[in-house]
Amino acid sequence: MDSFSTRLLDWYDRHARTLPWRIPPEQSKAGVRPDPYRVWLSEVMLQQTTVAAVKAYFETFTTIWPTVNDLAAAENDDVMSRWAGLGYYARARNLKACAEIVTRDYNGRFPETEDELRKLPGIGDYTAASIAAIAFGECAAVVDGNIERVLTRHRTISTPLPKAKGEVRAVMAEVTPTDRPGDFAQAMMDLGATICTSKNPVCGLCPVAQDCAARNLGTMLNYPVKKPKKQKPTRRGAAFVAWQGDEFFTIRRPEDGMLGGMQAPPSTDWSSKVDGATGIAAAPFVADWKQGESITHTFTHFHIELEVWSAQVDAPIQGKWMSEINDLPTLFRKVIRESKNYAADPIASR
Ligand code: ADE
Repeated sequence: MDSFSTRLLDWYDRHARTLPWRIPPEQSKAGVRPDPYRVWLSEVMLQQTTVAAVKAYFETFTTIWPTVNDLAAAENDDVMSRWAGLGYYARARNLKACAEIVTRDYNGRFPETEDELRKLPGIGDYTAASIAAIAFGECAAVVDGNIERVLTRHRTISTPLPKAKGEVRAVMAEVTPTDRPGDFAQAMMDLGATICTSKNPVCGLCPVAQDCAARNLGTMLNYPVKKPKKQKPTRRGAAFVAWQGDEFFTIRRPEDGMLGGMQAPPSTDWSSKVDGATGIAAAPFVADWKQGESITHTFTHFHIELEVWSAQVDAPIQGKWMSEINDLPTLFRKVIRESKNYAADPIASR
């Protein structure tokens, strides 16, 4: 039987997904390397986010800012509003900081090793390994969620994640070939995304099924073993949407909190206890505030329920008036939509 990596790369040569940041296997085999800027940008966007959600953002960013120097020279606010909707906004702040460092300290060229890459803002173990392997051909062991699933099944690793990460990385280091390590990592990701899926693995089509320990025992669905998740608490607060015609009033959220650096309508703190600081008493200014339906949203570690208060205001207020909801984080898109609904159909008349 061919080695694990040979079977996987043969499969990738036939079935690689076509992705905007990727060099197709036939060109990659001929030695064509992707632009490190595009690899870095895609890998940062793909942290915690699906390929489907990232594609359009990737196209927009690379059209507006085709090089790392362009991104370094961009306005912060512009980058933040183009990131709006992708979530985990610290990634966008780190992205901008990293672009500035690469432009200023590295002459616009990304460092080529996993260890050097890891020193840059927003680049952790996963991203450093993936850029080193995909952009520079370093034989780095890349481990993301898909790869964890494939390897914990293949080797029936029953230590729960995240404790099993070291074991999984050791197996990945063992199977990663020195030839085409970047294609190999991406083949593993594609296998996890299309064949070795969480709920319905299609083992009949898998190039490494013959020696997959879980498949041979029929226990694929038991892997990866995960530490039980804590129940998410619910936090509550209120958001205040002041309207002038089609424009709503926004402030810039503090850099160091949730959704830091993003424009958003004013809101109270989001607290697990409901008191005067989380409702209408904490409105940012006096207006004829009316309450609509509350909205809910879920973040990684908690649910949030926000009261939505709306008012028409005439007096000039210092701040940024906006009309494009796509420049807001998803939570606040929901707030604005509800506020618009309310204006069209106040609860009193529902
Ligand atoms: N997820 C993260 N990086 C990826 C890549 N390069 N190809 C496919 N899926 C990915």
